[in-house]
Amino acid sequence: MVQKVYKTVKVEKENGITWVILNRPEKRNAMSPQLHFEMVDVLVELESDDETRVLVLTGAGDSWCAGQDLKEFFRELDDKPVERRRAEWATHEWRWRSLLTFPKPTIAMVNGYCFGGAFTQLIACDIAIAAEDAIFGLSEINFGIFPGGLVSRVIADAMSYRDALYYSLTGDTFDGKQAAEMRLVTFAVPREKLREETVKLCQKLMEKNPAALRATKEVFKTCRTMDYALAEEYISAKIIALQATDPEKGRNKGIDQFVKEKKYRPGLESYDRDA
Ligand code: COA
Repeated sequence: MVQKVYKTVKVEKENGITWVILNRPEKRNAMSPQLHFEMVDVLVELESDDETRVLVLTGAGDSWCAGQDLKEFFRELDDKPVERRRAEWATHEWRWRSLLTFPKPTIAMVNGYCFGGAFTQLIACDIAIAAEDAIFGLSEINFGIFPGGLVSRVIADAMSYRDALYYSLTGDTFDGKQAAEMRLVTFAVPREKLREETVKLCQKLMEKNPAALRATKEVFKTCRTMDYALAEEYISAKIIALQATDPEKGRNKGIDQFVKEKKYRPGLESYDRDA
């Protein structure tokens, strides 16, 4: 695949891991309209890229993402309704629709500031690992608005009622350790271990059956908002769909190796995918 070059995003591939790096460090990786358009393209390309088995979203320099660019995304589009509409489409497209349904595991590796609009892509990622000293904030109240875009909606999924209201009403910041305690991120590690721990997690995910990984996240994310009757129907159809489409026929292999061959214990380890 020919690697495209972007101005506001860097894409680096290494042993199955694709690092997608928001690349405006001089603006703390605030999201401009151009960054949104480029990210739409990046995710479309990577969805079907065989070299990408796990996607890690991170930021250049010491910031993960300082939210929307208050100058380029807000102020400069105030009098340009058409450009605003396009930029709003792009911002929702990549940060929510594409990332949420990305067909491979996604990890937010939070290496620094994570403010306002950045919570959308943070929560869309399947797993989030933060540096213990990363700084998070729902800062909108500090500049006279409330968490916009989809932030008010997604924090209701990923933060407790009390935390979401406390932090969006006060604008107080919290660090990576606190974010892990409140379960907004999966875990926090010392900054110097952030990349190493992220790579370890990617390797663990890459040992699993990719079709089963995809179905796992699709089913979990889709059926959260279904009632029980609908979820039962949907999940049983997805199980059949997975069996029918999984190229490595994992379910048959996995059950045979346990039940017939007594080769492993699925409670403790994975089946032998190469057998
Ligand atoms: N929008 C536009 N520009 C931003 C930005 C944002 N969200 N965040 C940072 N920048 C720009 C600054 O204006 C500055 O630009 P300049 O060098 O042309 O003056 C540059 O990035 C560096 O920012 P600075 O504030 O000097 O860096 P810092 O390291 O001292 O502080 C932050 C970093 C993230 C704490 C601070 O920039 C900030 O509060 N940003 C806004 C965060 C926010 O509320 N985001 C929510 C938006 S939805």
